[in-house]
Amino acid sequence: MAFKENFITLGIETSCDETSVSVVKDGRKILSNTIFSQIKQHAKYGGVVPEIASRQHLEAISHVTQMALEEASIGFDDVDLVAVTQGPGLIGALLVGVSYAKGLAYALNKPLIGVNHIEGHIFANFLENDFTPPFLCLVVSGGHSHLVYVKDYGDYEVMGRTVDDAAGEAFDKVARALGLGYPGGPLIDKAAKEGNETAISFPIAQLKNGELNFSFSGIKTAVLNYLNHQRQKGLSIIIEDVAASFQKAVVDALVENTLKAAKVKKVKTIAVAGGVAANSRLRQELTERAASEFDVKFPPMILCTDNAAMIACTGYYRYLMGDRSDMTLTPYATLKPF
Ligand code: KG4
Ligand code: ZN
Repeated sequence: MAFKENFITLGIETSCDETSVSVVKDGRKILSNTIFSQIKQHAKYGGVVPEIASRQHLEAISHVTQMALEEASIGFDDVDLVAVTQGPGLIGALLVGVSYAKGLAYALNKPLIGVNHIEGHIFANFLENDFTPPFLCLVVSGGHSHLVYVKDYGDYEVMGRTVDDAAGEAFDKVARALGLGYPGGPLIDKAAKEGNETAISFPIAQLKNGELNFSFSGIKTAVLNYLNHQRQKGLSIIIEDVAASFQKAVVDALVENTLKAAKVKKVKTIAVAGGVAANSRLRQELTERAASEFDVKFPPMILCTDNAAMIACTGYYRYLMGDRSDMTLTPYATLKPF
């Protein structure tokens, strides 16, 4: 692959509840990564409201782009490539980013490239970092839980996946049941720090259809049953203990399968990607258990959850691979990454 020097990619991400624009040099060096979070606007509804998300993106996108350019000390004319999230995500939200990116690429007469958001999460590991494929990647976000062998840039083999809920989805649903609110993952992570993770024994994610797959709906149901049982019997519920015990059950399943897959492929490096990669217990447990055999990489916290730097990075590598989009680029809510 012929790398390009002093090549500026402008990344745009609007797949869910973060409007983000980033300027990345040579695919890996972040010059700016502006993230406008809509969490406050959605929190009172207990989750992301798609219509509100689209409107917020529309209001924010120009301003966030200006901020990203200013922070990077560049102008529109310095941009060599426009990369934008094409999917998966909320269709109305994606449409704002894709339309804006198309307008920008057309006006600047610069190439455009549509990026898969989940592939973007994997590439977040390359930012400000010099490691390269091959490696094993655990991809855990709000909608995806995959074990992926990354043979090379853009060359993937899925070794395991969830057969029902995604890991992040389980965190969000259990947080709601515990009355912790939205977004669930960080709130469970925080509550769990004050709890006893061996207080309640929830089943670890039962594996189905092949030993490297995950199933998280069983743990979620076990938590809901536990809460109902305690309430019906008038027994106390220690939210911190439930959060810690649930988190342990999820983390154990993730770590177990990740180590198994890494051994099968005999990789040297394990990387983690997606919002759940921000989980402190997962970071600690995987690092500890893998330490003797593997080098474990997590993106910095800000690059675990949604951001445009990872989209710019992926766009750069896809561009080097010869991929191009044109003015017919269309967002897809269910775009498959692998
Ligand atoms: O990757 P992401 O920002 O968006 C998607 O592409 O889905 O992931 C969001 C998910 C949510 O389910 C959120 O609860 C979870 O990542 N998450 C966490 C943590 N921070 C975010 N889950 C567990 N622990 C965390 N600290
Ligand atoms: Zn994401």
